[in-house]
Amino acid sequence: WTACAVGLVIAYLLGATPSGYLAGKLLRGIDIREHGSRSTGATNVLRTLGKWPALVVLIADVLKGAAAILVARVFCPWLSRVLSQVPPTDLDLQMWVPWVVGLAGIAVLLGHSRSIWLNFTGGKSAATGLGVLLAMSWPVGLGAAATFGIVLASTRIVSLSSILAALTSIVLVCAFEQLLPYRLLVIAGGLYVIVRHRANIGRLLAGTEPRLGQSSPDAK
Ligand code: G3P
Repeated sequence: WTACAVGLVIAYLLGATPSGYLAGKLLRGIDIREHGSRSTGATNVLRTLGKWPALVVLIADVLKGAAAILVARVFCPWLSRVLSQVPPTDLDLQMWVPWVVGLAGIAVLLGHSRSIWLNFTGGKSAATGLGVLLAMSWPVGLGAAATFGIVLASTRIVSLSSILAALTSIVLVCAFEQLLPYRLLVIAGGLYVIVRHRANIGRLLAGTEPRLGQSSPDAK
C-alpha cells in the first residue's frame, strides 16, 4: 500500500508540473490562463506563444503521462519488493500492478488539469492522456493518435480532434484490451478528457470554435 500511495502521489505531481504555465511565465512573463482558451495545454500555448513553445509543451505533456505509467509499472513493484521483501514472482504483486497503473493514469490526468501549483486549474489532459495510452497500451495510443491526426488534417479544429481521439481510445480499449483495470482507466480517462472539453463542445455546437491559426476563444 505504501508503494502504491507513493506511486500515485508521484503520478499526480508529474501531471501537476505546469509546463504550459511555465512556458508563458518564462518566455513572456504572462499567465497563460489569462489568454485564449485559458487552458495551459499545448493548443493554447500555440495560439498564445507560437509553435516552438507549443511543441516543447506538447512533448513535455505527453512524456509526463508516459512517465506516470512507467512509475506505476516499474518503480512501484520495485519499492514494494524493497519495503516488504516480496519476491518478484509474488502473485499478489503481479495482480495489483495493473490496478496501480490504471490509478496512476487517472492521477496524472487529474494532476495536469487540476494542478496543485495552479490553484487546481490546468489543461484538458489530451496530450497527457496520449502519453498514458502509449505507455500503457501502445496500439490503443496509436489508434487515438491516428484519429487525432486525421480529424485535425481534415477540420483543423484541435478540440474536435481531441474529443474524437478520446472516443476512439474508449472503443479500441473495449474491443482489444484484456486487462480490466486498463479498460476502466481508458473509459474513465477518455470520458474525463471529453468533459474537460465541455466549453469547446459548446463552441463547436454554436459553430464558433476556432480552427488552427484563427483568433482565440476568450471564454473557458
Ligand atoms: O487538448 C486541448 C485541445 O483539445 C483544445 O485546447 O485551448 O483550444 O481549448 P483549447
